[in-house]
Amino acid sequence: MDAGRRYLDLLKRTLTGTVYAAEPARAGQPVEKYLEQFIHHYFANAYPHTCVPLARIDNVDHCVRAALADGIEGDLVETGVWRGGVTIYMRAMLDVLGDEHRRVWAADSFEGLPRPDPTLYPKEAAAHDGPLLSGPLNNLAVSLEDVKANFATYDLLDERVVFLKGWFKDTLPDAPIERIAVLRLDGDYYESTRDPLVALYDKLSDGGFLIVDDYGEDDWTYCRQAIDEFRGARGIDDPIHVVDGQCVYWRKGGDR
Ligand SMILES: C[S@@+](CC[C@H](N)C(=O)[O-])C[C@H]1O[C@@H](n2cnc3c(N)ncnc32)[C@H](O)[C@@H]1O
Repeated sequence: MDAGRRYLDLLKRTLTGTVYAAEPARAGQPVEKYLEQFIHHYFANAYPHTCVPLARIDNVDHCVRAALADGIEGDLVETGVWRGGVTIYMRAMLDVLGDEHRRVWAADSFEGLPRPDPTLYPKEAAAHDGPLLSGPLNNLAVSLEDVKANFATYDLLDERVVFLKGWFKDTLPDAPIERIAVLRLDGDYYESTRDPLVALYDKLSDGGFLIVDDYGEDDWTYCRQAIDEFRGARGIDDPIHVVDGQCVYWRKGGDR
């Protein structure tokens, strides 16, 4: 393994906290047990800087590598960054792959998830007010200052990282992003998936990657519905690839 890959591998394990403790395994155990381990690993500890599992970081790695190798124009964007881990990884990749111009955009309220309308989105509203999200997960609120500090910990805070603070519906439509090579949606809820898609999909270059972290989170979100409706309305039939039980991605214009 060359030094660049070794660095990214260590960074991935550090960001996920799996350099210190085993990753909570979702498959093969009761959901209550998994949730207990999940809360303990990611939320009782301050050191994991992402709650995205290793397989999904590998998927980010794959998409960014392929986009750059194929000369796909544009920046790297994540909508929903929590403690910043995936965007930290994206910024590190640009250095390792020798890119000197692209930027990483980190969009978030930096005050957690918005409260879903209980009439339109009853499952999401119940989860939002439930004992997990409103309890130990603190509705996933992490301040901008804390996320910047996390970037600085890895010496990756510079002018090529751009923070968009506010609700997606307000910040994304006029965000000064020109082209996008990789767009990663991780806002959990229906509107938090739909709003970035509507605002940014046309800026995704042909051959660029669209990643959806929460497509399979049907127990508590309508993320899948937001994606399916958008694909239907826009006539998108690019094949969807499964990363794990929840996360999926497709390549705009189809696979190459
Ligand atoms: C599951 S977390 C993201 C996890 C992150 N990608 C990581 O690396 O760990 C979801 C994030 O989306 C943000 N979010 C959700 N809906 C939003 C919206 N409509 N506008 C702004 N931020 C939103 C929350 O504040 C939270 O930080």
